Amino acid sequence: MARKNALVKPILKWVGGKRQLLDDILPLLPKDPKLYVEPFVGGAAVLLAKQPAHARVNDYNAELVNVYKVVRDEPDALLEKLREHDENNTSDYYYEVRALDRESSFVDMGEVERAARIIYLNKTCFNGLYRVNSAGQINSPYGRYKHPNIVNEPGIRALSRYLQGDVTLMCGDYSEALRSLPRGAFVYLDPPYMPLTQTSAFTGYTEGGFDYDEQVRLRDECVKLREQGIHFLESNSDCPEIRELYADFTIRTVQAKRAINSRGDRRGAVNEVLISG
Ligand SMILES: C[S@@+](CC[C@H](N)C(=O)[O-])C[C@H]1O[C@@H](n2cnc3c(N)ncnc32)[C@H](O)[C@@H]1O
Repeated sequence: MARKNALVKPILKWVGGKRQLLDDILPLLPKDPKLYVEPFVGGAAVLLAKQPAHARVNDYNAELVNVYKVVRDEPDALLEKLREHDENNTSDYYYEVRALDRESSFVDMGEVERAARIIYLNKTCFNGLYRVNSAGQINSPYGRYKHPNIVNEPGIRALSRYLQGDVTLMCGDYSEALRSLPRGAFVYLDPPYMPLTQTSAFTGYTEGGFDYDEQVRLRDECVKLREQGIHFLESNSDCPEIRELYADFTIRTVQAKRAINSRGDRRGAVNEVLISG
């Protein structure tokens, strides 16, 4: 396996990021899997801490996957555009750039511009809490950081080189990324979590529409993986529904510090589970 590059790190802060849990997760991953598969890659904290030589990663969010594609294929053009954002960065400018996805011309925006926009907003938004409304439009307020690291040239160049290796980027439903896996593949699943509060469960509101039925569909995919002899690890919230769905699998409890939480009273340590099959 190639040596890991310490400069290769997540470039976006993403809700549900796994940095806090890396010490629990990394020892549970096989050393050198034939293919490492991450169907809900998000901010890619686990992928980039591991830097597997052969990987397939996926996310439903097209703007996010576009960021990784542009970092891989057009780092120079991306850096140029980020420098422009950096020079112009003010509160007014932030809201102008944020509003672009509310305009019909957004569909005509180039890939580099779209990727630079996401990175810029992610680095400058309040708390790094990048949220979208039900129409998929970013609605986080401006963050007023003194020195946001908008350009991060060494990080982007290092990530670009890593992604130019044997890493397949996919954008779609996670189940697509689980098709035709070779023997010896390993899957790490970090889905949107089962909501912990009763109110969120009852109203059916979940991030990205990942409700209980979706959790059942995911469990069924895990059963299929087991039938194919493919090992996996899944993170999820520690709640009765998840424990029941995965009663046949090995469940470890871990503590995660959640800095990003819309409800202040749920900040601090919460239990999560790591499910292996
Ligand atoms: C909890 S986050 C992953 C966090 C990530 N592992 C990290 O360290 O930052 C879940 C991700 O799943 C994606 N997602 C939601 N529904 C999906 C689906 N049906 N198929 C694929 N990805 C999906 C979301 O866009 C989000 O990026």
